[in-house]
Amino acid sequence: MSYIIINKEVAPFVTHIQINRPKELNALNLELMIELKDALLELENDDEVRAVVLSGNDRAFAAGADIKQMAGKSSIDMLITDQFKIWDQIKKFKKPLIAAVSGFALGGGCELAMLCDMIVASETAKFGQPEIKIGVIPGAGGTQRLTKALGKVKAMELILTGEFIDANQALDYGLVNHVVPVELYLSEAIKLASKITAMSPLACQLAKEAVNRSFETNLEEGLHFERKNFYLLFSSQDQKEGMSAFVEKRKPIFKGN
Ligand code: HXC
Repeated sequence: MSYIIINKEVAPFVTHIQINRPKELNALNLELMIELKDALLELENDDEVRAVVLSGNDRAFAAGADIKQMAGKSSIDMLITDQFKIWDQIKKFKKPLIAAVSGFALGGGCELAMLCDMIVASETAKFGQPEIKIGVIPGAGGTQRLTKALGKVKAMELILTGEFIDANQALDYGLVNHVVPVELYLSEAIKLASKITAMSPLACQLAKEAVNRSFETNLEEGLHFERKNFYLLFSSQDQKEGMSAFVEKRKPIFKGN
């Protein structure tokens, strides 16, 4: 059985990956995460793919890591399994990755959505880090990414109480990009991906890298990194095409070289 479904070309250059463990509310077991990581690695090397949309189903994006799989584990089991290596590999995915979230995005599910570059949510989406209720804390970035997105006091409240926020609160807090009716969250995410795939894929890659760098470094180094990426793009055909098209008053055609 496969834990993910890959829908190639849901729009030009856009691939959709659907998490497919509906009975367990898409709980993220190890096998699922390995499949997801492998699929992304493959899509990263596919020139026909310029952006990926990741969703669950209407009821759940993912209700967290698989509690049943983790329940009996010791610290050493967890250390040896080193599941976060997989998360680190997903974090390195170079192309734009958009989460289309409906229903529960909890614990590891919320962390997976936050690992994506943008989030389109349905009105029914619920976000939270309820690990505190089962005696642990977020382990895949929740204490860091939620805090960066929401600020200290809001993140602290969510992480210490385990309470959920709804889609509109998530929008107010700056956690998600857009909130739309449940029938539309996937198509809106694909539309957003399509806007991006019309751009130069090289520029997208280097822009993503530079934005992400801002979370990891100080302003001076971040600006330096941005500048290097900016200069680098002047060696691309896409830069020549983009600027010529502007001057010639036509639409650019970016080829990713
Ligand atoms: C394993 C899960 C699960 C999970 C739900 N299920 N969440 N199984 N791990 N995280 C299973 C249930 O056991 C149940 O299976 C089925 O999915 C449906 O769930 P219900 O609880 O019956 O549905 P409902 O009453 O609607 O409640 C939905 C829910 C609740 C509020 C989302 O399921 C819930 O609280 N789930 C756990 C959320 C959570 O604590 N997530 C954080 C996990 S820790 P059966 O077979 O009983 O019908 C984590 C750490 C991350 O994520 C670390 C990094 C990876």
